[in-house]
Amino acid sequence: MCGIIGIVGVEPVAGRLIDSLRRLEYRGYDSAGVAALVDGRIERRRAAGKLRNLDAVLAAEPLVATVGIGHTRWATHGAPTLANAHPHKAGRVAVVHNGIIENFAPLKAALIAQGRHFESQTDTEVVAHLIDRELASGKDPIGAFKAALDQITGAYALAVLVEGEDSLVMGARRGSPLVVGYGAGEMFIGTDALALGLLTNRIAFLEDGDFVAIDHDTARIFDADSHAVERPMHIVSAASALVEKGNYRHFMEKEIHDQPDAVQHTLSAYVDPITGSVASPGVDFAAIDRLQIIACGTASYAGMIGRYLFERLAGLPTDVEIASEFRYREPALLPGALAMAVSQSGETADTLAALRWCKARGIATAALVNSHESTMAREADVMFPTHAGPEIGVASTKAFTAQVAALTALAIAAARQRGRIDAVEEARLVGILLEAPRLIADTIRGEDTISAVVHDIARARDVLYLGRGTMYPLALEGALKLKEISYIHAEGYAAGELKHGPIALVDEATPIIVIAPTDALFDKTASNMSEVIARGGRVIMITDAEGATHAPDGVSIVLVPACDPLIAPLVFAIPIQLIAYQVAVFKGADVDQPRNLAKSVTVE
Ligand code: G6P
Repeated sequence: MCGIIGIVGVEPVAGRLIDSLRRLEYRGYDSAGVAALVDGRIERRRAAGKLRNLDAVLAAEPLVATVGIGHTRWATHGAPTLANAHPHKAGRVAVVHNGIIENFAPLKAALIAQGRHFESQTDTEVVAHLIDRELASGKDPIGAFKAALDQITGAYALAVLVEGEDSLVMGARRGSPLVVGYGAGEMFIGTDALALGLLTNRIAFLEDGDFVAIDHDTARIFDADSHAVERPMHIVSAASALVEKGNYRHFMEKEIHDQPDAVQHTLSAYVDPITGSVASPGVDFAAIDRLQIIACGTASYAGMIGRYLFERLAGLPTDVEIASEFRYREPALLPGALAMAVSQSGETADTLAALRWCKARGIATAALVNSHESTMAREADVMFPTHAGPEIGVASTKAFTAQVAALTALAIAAARQRGRIDAVEEARLVGILLEAPRLIADTIRGEDTISAVVHDIARARDVLYLGRGTMYPLALEGALKLKEISYIHAEGYAAGELKHGPIALVDEATPIIVIAPTDALFDKTASNMSEVIARGGRVIMITDAEGATHAPDGVSIVLVPACDPLIAPLVFAIPIQLIAYQVAVFKGADVDQPRNLAKSVTVE
């Protein structure tokens, strides 16, 4: 989790970069750095640790310039050292980066084979080399940047400075946020509107896949297909910039689109991509004999997914219970167990009471929370953070996937600690997990394929969701999302339970949404689907390309990218959320503030 900033200005740039980075420090403070064009040449100042260390470096060695880029780092690839601090430089190019370049290892090997020298362990440095190599081959800066972007995969936001280009900063985003700020004879790019709050209140929010070149007066923006595009300018208030909707109609839509970033930031807190290992600070899962997950609403479905993973990967007996039941049930939980509250707000009354109940009985407690200053965060023995950022929409989306990401990482850590997997298998699972932000971004880009089924669902009185394994909690979550914001009655069922009741509801008026990734359970889910079709039911199947080839005639398909079963809950959550969102918009419902609901339920 990092913050980035770029300025093509007329005033001295160093202090402005620092002020902007200060507003991004909430994203990380492992190191900080700036690069600026001094008499046409790139000069850098960097420091490990907090921003004040960089301040001291700049005081000792000032940078006299008006154009520059800056970065505050939350280490992912490479330790938080000076050598790994951004900006990274290669030849004529300096780069700052938020995100993960997934294919950096083969790119780096190829660049080294061509005689290029690397100074850091970061994934970012390859981007600087790639752009510099393209420049050396005769391309102009935009052409070189685009050619480099074509070679990298992963989730990223970038800002780039090129030696010899006195009034140019380039940026790009895929999966991580980036905005453009408009000044008077000055232009800016940055991670969010808050970062630019002291520079301008005129902001354009880039869309995923966009890249941009700013000079003193203009922003040339291109979409993923390199078509020149315009992104509308918004006037934002600096104080509320963090919670602006940007180009989106609703917070829920924005938060669905925030998910590559939310998941990636959350994973960064647990996963070391260099060593391929996962940490679970404060808890040794080998020392506990039972995990009790306690939560409400959407968070409880994240917990259910967690149970599948903790039991399957780590062999750790795990229960999940709704907090309002747990707290009054006199549970027979013994010391030796770990009680883990899962909560976006960290304030939900029932979850908090259940956590306190455990603590009072001497049971170890953990809180997996998105609000790190919340009551649960403070009262639990251990806090496991999610880093989804502020979630405003009442229907939880990015907090949910962030919870699932954290639980998946912790289940891998538990598997290793309990001797169920070795370091090689841990690294393999980590590699799969780190693909999730990109696959989520890919899935969001395919959102138009959902429109075809939206009308059908919006007209229905009842909707059934079916899934097996980790897709069962997703079926419950899908039904909850639809109920919450579209006011359509919906039920989620384990697909195997179909014959034990819900099949009686099947008729032509009831859409049945089947969540069916290609995995070990696919054939069984497909059989359940055939049972529905045989009774005249209308099936909407959410699946990957392989699954789609096995779909019976008459089934509507919502396609998602193929992915490993480990991260299928993260990828398949996206169409589940988008269906609910689009149906609610189609029906004209108040998406962000549905009737009778509240974001944080602090009463029983
Ligand atoms: C409310 C919200 C849900 C959320 C639940 C639990 O019902 O509307 O979106 O899942 O509370 O909230 P928590 O903050 O504990 O995750």
